[in-house]
Amino acid sequence: MLDSRFRGNRLVKHMNFRKPKGTKDILPKDMHKWHYVEKTIREVMSLFNFTEIRTPTFEYTDLFNRGVGSQTDIVGKEMYTFDDKGGDSMTLRPEGTAPVVRAYNENSMGADSPVHKLYYMTNMFRYERPQAGRYREHTQFGAEIIGSDSLTTDVELISLAKEVYNRCGITNFKVKINSIGKPDERKNYVNLLREFLQKHINKLSEDSKKRLEGNTLRILDSKNESDKEITNSAPKILDNLGKESKDRFEKVLSGLTELGINYEVDFRLVRGLDYYTDTTFEFVSEELGAQDAIGGGGRYDGLVELLGGKPSPGVGFGSGIERVIIVAEKNGFKFPEATPPKVYFITLNDEARDKSLSLANDLRKKNISCECDLLARSMKAQMREANKMMAEYVYIIGEEEIQKNKGMLKKMSDGTQEEIEFDLLVNKF
Ligand code: HAM
Repeated sequence: MLDSRFRGNRLVKHMNFRKPKGTKDILPKDMHKWHYVEKTIREVMSLFNFTEIRTPTFEYTDLFNRGVGSQTDIVGKEMYTFDDKGGDSMTLRPEGTAPVVRAYNENSMGADSPVHKLYYMTNMFRYERPQAGRYREHTQFGAEIIGSDSLTTDVELISLAKEVYNRCGITNFKVKINSIGKPDERKNYVNLLREFLQKHINKLSEDSKKRLEGNTLRILDSKNESDKEITNSAPKILDNLGKESKDRFEKVLSGLTELGINYEVDFRLVRGLDYYTDTTFEFVSEELGAQDAIGGGGRYDGLVELLGGKPSPGVGFGSGIERVIIVAEKNGFKFPEATPPKVYFITLNDEARDKSLSLANDLRKKNISCECDLLARSMKAQMREANKMMAEYVYIIGEEEIQKNKGMLKKMSDGTQEEIEFDLLVNKF
């Protein structure tokens, strides 16, 4: 909120700018956690041979209308959409799959190679009601395999996500899994479900009543108790799949068992985006409370074609980095701290400060991190600063040291010190 006191056009004091609701500042004190998770994601992606793809922050709105589905909450309620100055409707990306598939089609990537394994790590925008673990701008990493309908791709993605979580100290999550079948099976099931729910319409929550026509499947994952009671006895999608889809699902489950990944089949897991076919999955953690999904995904065998490409199957998942950090911390994971500077130059006059600049330059060229005093403070204050930064050494330069061309190197851990000539300092480490 801006507590502005304008005098004429001049903004006079009390300017308290605040970040937009549902966004966050990631401060230096927390950055090591982000760096660790980001590094881990890149390492694991590379182990599984995924390559990174980056798409624009905003896309033409129609991409999401069509790709994610106009009846979904994301498109219907949550998109940051605006007309640009040329009058085109643009949307800040609310998710990564439709943009990746758009880029895949637009760049004819299918012609280069039959299978692409792609990943991204970037910010997403959804106008949601902010709460713990739910933001209007979140950072998501995701992986997509386009071009193969092999069931190993479903298993590989689940195992990839698990590997990232495990390396972040997260072990107490559940893998929920379901299959929503081929598009025509899904369509028939939606009709069946709608018919069933029509009979109980009076007991449905207001939200679910609204969803009955356009977004029927989502009623299955309603948190409302009365909705849950009704849907408990609703026809189940797995009972309404054809043999091929059922067999495929069974094989995915065996693949997970083979890798020692525990799962729970959950008929309510329909996911909130329209492009899914066959397998859907979610990683949930009790540590997250109401927003319990650390990550989720599934197959989208019709999406490439829906967005104008040659029919190609796909599967992927996405996971919020904020939620990974929340769960990791609740699990007691200690993120490695950033490395402190090796050397802090304590300088006691202008000449010494000049000298420290050139010595720091030499050290940095040799990849040795260091810091110089920036406030011309007293020796005591500089020493305190070096301690606070947890510098491994201080190198003290005063008037006498300048005369002798030597500084005093002190190891902070044990207090031992030795005189070292300026020219020889760089060889010390
Ligand atoms: P999604 O389930 O909508 O799927 O989002 C994936 C993950 O992003 C969620 O499980 C959650 O961790 C995180 N997330 C979503 N919204 C928020 C939010 N408002 N605040 C914080 N974290 C959030 C997708 O977006 C699909 N594109 C995933 C996918 C990829 N499916 C196939 N390929």
